[in-house]
Amino acid sequence: MSKGLRKGLTSYGDAGFSLFLRKAFIKAAGYSDDALERPIVGITNTCSDYNPCHGNVPALIEAAKRGVMLAGGMPMVFPTISIHESFAYPTSMFLRNLMAMDTEEMIRAQPMDAVIVIGGCDKNLPAQIMGAVSADLPTVVIPTGPMVVGHHRGEVLGACTDCRRLWASHRAGQVDADEIEIANSRLAPSVGTCMVMGTASTMACVTEALGLSLPTSATIPAPHAERVRIAEASGKRAAEMALSGAPRPSDILTDASFRNALTVLQAIGGSTNGIIHLTAIANRTRYKIDLADFDALGRKVPVLIDLKPSGQHYMEHFHHAGGVPKLMQQLGNLLDLDAKTVAGGTLRDVVAVAEEVPGQTVIRSPADPIKPTGAIAVLHGNIAPRGAVIKHSAATPKLLQHTGRAVVFDSVAAMTERIDDPDLDVGPEDVLVLRNAGPKGAPGMPEAGYLPIPKKILASGVKDMVRISDARMSGTAFGTIVLHITPESAAGGPLAVVQTGDQIRLDVAGRRIDLLVDEGELERRRAAADAIRQPEWAERGYARLFWDTVLQADEGCDFSFMQNKRDEGSEA
Ligand code: FES
Repeated sequence: MSKGLRKGLTSYGDAGFSLFLRKAFIKAAGYSDDALERPIVGITNTCSDYNPCHGNVPALIEAAKRGVMLAGGMPMVFPTISIHESFAYPTSMFLRNLMAMDTEEMIRAQPMDAVIVIGGCDKNLPAQIMGAVSADLPTVVIPTGPMVVGHHRGEVLGACTDCRRLWASHRAGQVDADEIEIANSRLAPSVGTCMVMGTASTMACVTEALGLSLPTSATIPAPHAERVRIAEASGKRAAEMALSGAPRPSDILTDASFRNALTVLQAIGGSTNGIIHLTAIANRTRYKIDLADFDALGRKVPVLIDLKPSGQHYMEHFHHAGGVPKLMQQLGNLLDLDAKTVAGGTLRDVVAVAEEVPGQTVIRSPADPIKPTGAIAVLHGNIAPRGAVIKHSAATPKLLQHTGRAVVFDSVAAMTERIDDPDLDVGPEDVLVLRNAGPKGAPGMPEAGYLPIPKKILASGVKDMVRISDARMSGTAFGTIVLHITPESAAGGPLAVVQTGDQIRLDVAGRRIDLLVDEGELERRRAAADAIRQPEWAERGYARLFWDTVLQADEGCDFSFMQNKRDEGSEA
């Protein structure tokens, strides 16, 4: 098979001419014949002024290039889409699959023997891994790394768990307008990804557990020199992989590695978004994430990391305590340590050299966990026939068994308009219900599942209520919040027929979420419901593709035609 510059020649009907032309153009950039004979390592450039979470990407690219060249390879940097959580309209999730397609096709289209994907902000690593897994070239992932913590009036702050906590205090009148502005400039004090166990940190940790990045890649703070050094080491490793042609993602990713990733997701108190992204990644291979298995894992895997929002610390503290290798050492037999990594060996080799940090309390042992069971539970019931999730490690324990009256909001816009209305008929025991906020409904399944507590209830000192929706929630958020109700209401799911005043029962111990309305009445409501129609926003372009083909949360919200065709027995 051709390698380097000879790979994937542009079709002119004459292969010799195609290579001649390609070399003529690349020489315009000053490359020598010696350089052009080397194995090529493609490096994605996701630097963007709109994406401060990737603000260190230029330095990481330089280091990765240095590593590639030290190992005798030729680095070639190419741009792809970059997505920042706060700068993507309507939502970053709406664009994740576009980035995955862009990344996959650019890897396929351009000559390279291995690829390094550099990303971090929530949707970027999932998108890059989805694309790289489908392209199946030897791949090394370099996360951009977490921000360092902020400080405000003697308190340690982190994006964005503390953004939410401070904003809730501001809404409740406990933090005034001047102070909230000062805190605003201290919540995200450096480039890098959110430094709590949000989706970005979660995906960086599960990427390391999957074996797709070098050990400690998940946790090294973005501004540290160590982050630059691991980019160099990743470059060297990628060049070796370009030379040998292995391992590919299809060599690394197995049932065992996905199970390891799910175990780590539970043990870190990870983001609920992690389960959607891992499902999407697995669906691009021969393997599949089973929600029932994931829930069963959660019953035996303890939360071992003391990080916000489930605990107290931040990502830099996790790193200084030994990072993911130390966590995996603590998990021991709960993991399959024979799983391979891009480092060249197995997880057993990684945990054997995990750092022992005397006196650290961030990474606990199974004998002294933060929580005795995992972070996320999967619920089913007549309101969620294909499932829903709750991050019970970040919920109020007494609300995990709760029956209350539904207060329904038909859309994110309706909820925003009405939630603080003093005349809204709502009490602290009620269940706030948001619908039309799923993959198709909003569109792009916004992180609106963290419905704000109505101001009048906040003012009485109540900090949490049961909230349910077909939306997602930021991994940095907390509360008794049921998410990803599937099928979503916009696709005809039962959430569509809930009415204000209905009773809803949440039973996390029994893994149930039920609408306490008899089946005959639900049938009448379904018969009277409007037919599903293509909305105006989905008339053309990417939005049309999204509406027509996006899958539900239990299938990872990928496009239906992007999944691996397991049934036909094809290999990943
Ligand atoms: Fe980019 Fe949180 S906004 S990681």
